[in-house]
Amino acid sequence: MARIVESVTAMRALVTEARKKGKSIGFVPTMGALHAGHLELMKEAKKLCDVVVVSIFVNPTQFGPNEDFDAYPRTWDEDLAACRSVGVDAVFHPPARELYPDGWGTWVDVGGVTDKLCGKSRPTHFRGVATVVTKLFNIVQPDKAFFGQKDAQQVIVLKKMVRDLDMFNEIVMVPIVREADGLAKSSRNAYLSQEQRQAALVLNQSLSTAFDMAASGERDITAIKAAVLRHIQSVSLANVDYVEIYSFPDLAEIDILDQDALLAVAVKFGSTRLIDNIILTPKRT
Ligand code: PAF
Repeated sequence: MARIVESVTAMRALVTEARKKGKSIGFVPTMGALHAGHLELMKEAKKLCDVVVVSIFVNPTQFGPNEDFDAYPRTWDEDLAACRSVGVDAVFHPPARELYPDGWGTWVDVGGVTDKLCGKSRPTHFRGVATVVTKLFNIVQPDKAFFGQKDAQQVIVLKKMVRDLDMFNEIVMVPIVREADGLAKSSRNAYLSQEQRQAALVLNQSLSTAFDMAASGERDITAIKAAVLRHIQSVSLANVDYVEIYSFPDLAEIDILDQDALLAVAVKFGSTRLIDNIILTPKRT
């Protein structure tokens, strides 16, 4: 039965107890509204670690002023049941004042990889993510922390943060989980109307187009990006934020697909912004 932990002190006590018994700790940070993608992270954590902690905290500092912090789905009962269904040991569910008490004012700003892709349209987002994840790492002290590839840039940013700040945690990236029709699982899918949900299938379809181009030997990054953009723009409900390809995992500019590369897209359907991505590998000759 997963224990519910609401204070930093109680979370530390639980971790200290586990450590005394020589147990390794796996950590899955989430903002709740859990779906099959989150369950995969938890299952992977169970496979690789003795004790699994999940945090559920809708982190205010990673939302911009006009973003969906207030509307973000909060589904505590279902989330707790989901954690229990896969045998999570503890659910850390702090109130905001536990993590951001009066007088709090220290940020973690990761350089180099946060000024592109989602960082461009959400300029304060990754500062909020890096800050809360650092705080959570300090509290939970995990050996390994598990994040989904759907937020590939987030994984890249957090790996860099761990490296730059000499943190000892290992970040494990778990593949994207998709619906049967290809739409990547996301807590924000709940905002879509039926029509928008149907239109959003173009994301995965356009990534498949790029995958096929790369597999058949296309190496011109501009050509691949243009094909993906054309495909998405053929759907009238789709409003493109970005279609970008960078080297993976460094996020450097590239012209030719001669190494692994991240193709990432962000597209709005109505007011809902969805992201998706694929890692392209050059055709080996
Ligand atoms: O990926 C998320 O749900 C959030 O960005 C995270 C990592 C839990 C930080 O709030």
